[in-house]
Amino acid sequence: MDNKLDPWSSSNITDYSKLFEEFGISPFENILPEIPSPHKYMRRRIIFGHRDYEQIAEAMRTGAPFSVMDGFMPSGKVHLGHKMVMDQVIWHQENGASAFVGIADREAFSVRGFSWKKCREIGVEEYILSLIALGFKPEGLIYFQSGCRSVKDLAFELGARVNFSELSAIYGFSGETSLSHMLSVATQAADILQPQLEEFGGPKPVVVPVGPDQDPHLRLTRGLAGKMNMFRIEERETSEGWKYLSIRGKGAPKEALQELKKRIPGKVKLYEEHIDILQTPDYAFLERFVSQISQPEKRNYFMSRIQEIAKFANVAKPPEFSEYEKYFVFRRTWKTAGKILEEVVAEVAAEFDGYAFIPPASTYHRFMSGLQGGKMSSSTPDSYIALTDDPKEGAKKVKKAKTGGCMTLEEQKKLGGKPDECSVFELMLFHLIEDDEELMEVRQECVCGTRTCGACKQLAAEKMQEFLKDHQEKRELAREDLDEYRIIYKK
Ligand code: TRP
Repeated sequence: MDNKLDPWSSSNITDYSKLFEEFGISPFENILPEIPSPHKYMRRRIIFGHRDYEQIAEAMRTGAPFSVMDGFMPSGKVHLGHKMVMDQVIWHQENGASAFVGIADREAFSVRGFSWKKCREIGVEEYILSLIALGFKPEGLIYFQSGCRSVKDLAFELGARVNFSELSAIYGFSGETSLSHMLSVATQAADILQPQLEEFGGPKPVVVPVGPDQDPHLRLTRGLAGKMNMFRIEERETSEGWKYLSIRGKGAPKEALQELKKRIPGKVKLYEEHIDILQTPDYAFLERFVSQISQPEKRNYFMSRIQEIAKFANVAKPPEFSEYEKYFVFRRTWKTAGKILEEVVAEVAAEFDGYAFIPPASTYHRFMSGLQGGKMSSSTPDSYIALTDDPKEGAKKVKKAKTGGCMTLEEQKKLGGKPDECSVFELMLFHLIEDDEELMEVRQECVCGTRTCGACKQLAAEKMQEFLKDHQEKRELAREDLDEYRIIYKK
């Protein structure tokens, strides 16, 4: 029970490493080199974990379509914690993602008991204005859950694949839990899968940047993605150890399986409920296979991948290949065949009204601590900075914040401060200092005892005041530009 993550009671996570072992979240560090120019939250290890982010990094490198999706429950004031999420949505949008932001009024209605009117007011006045002020572009979609027909329909369909036992295992739901609360969970899963619907361009990688408290939703949604799909692709092995690909289509129409079989070149076996691809894919196989993708952009994208493999394979002629090189070409070929198969399967599924969701990817960021130490809490205004705080008040809160300094100046000069236990340094790390070198300097000076807490507070307070002033001006501009944005309200 200790490690159960509960999205509705801001549990304090003290040991992030447990999340790796227990829930299978991967360390973010490992994929950092694959990201073209990582966001400061990535470089500074504030984002510490992920699921399947490889596919997002690859899409950013190659220009393949992908999405970023996030949701905000309209619960109260928009603050620096929300800014962290918004920054990440906007960063992915700037890096090529189609962006989706849901205002989770269904969740606020069922969990907080808020009226639709209150949800709309907080949704626009707090969250949407700040999102736009921080740089969200009008190409993205913003919607209130309660106004979004496609999300509500999808939520209902998803509901057919979840039962109460699963919900209580994931969320600890009991006999007291209301039906609406459960529906809000299905709605969040629908939020996350919606970007992959046909009307938004079909299956594609989607990343959901969140704090670890939201991971239960991601586990549920990733499971649902698989359960909803018309076909499942599996890598299998014969008893002699030969690998082959198998497409399982339990419950899929016979005609869909036959159609798929027609589109796969090479040796294929069609069974009652599945298809096995027995041929080891080679260059010629890939070329014939890729021609089955009907979307020209995707076809071209895969053509260039195949040409890359071919180029490599032609540099050294196969007999001169080392074992490693042979393996490299083999792996790349195999992987590419799998990806092309996913595309073809998705197209056939769509033709027969089926789904082919890719399990959503996610990133996990550390939470900021409260300005007084401990947790940020909406009931203690001095513990957090709202994006709508009066700039001077914001600066005052910084000056009152708890630092990692010593009791006396003398001691501090001798022993140095502790930036990792300092909420003022945290503000600079998360929000106020863009330049890594400048930040390192502050850190170094603190550790060596040459920098006083007073100096840091002064710097951070000035920067905070400036940021809030600028942000609030931008919010007013956003208010004027609101009708340039695609926003779906409740009718
Ligand atoms: N449950 C999230 C929260 O508290 C809000 C949310 C709704 C969300 N839908 C989402 C988050 C989709 C990420 C993705 O605040």
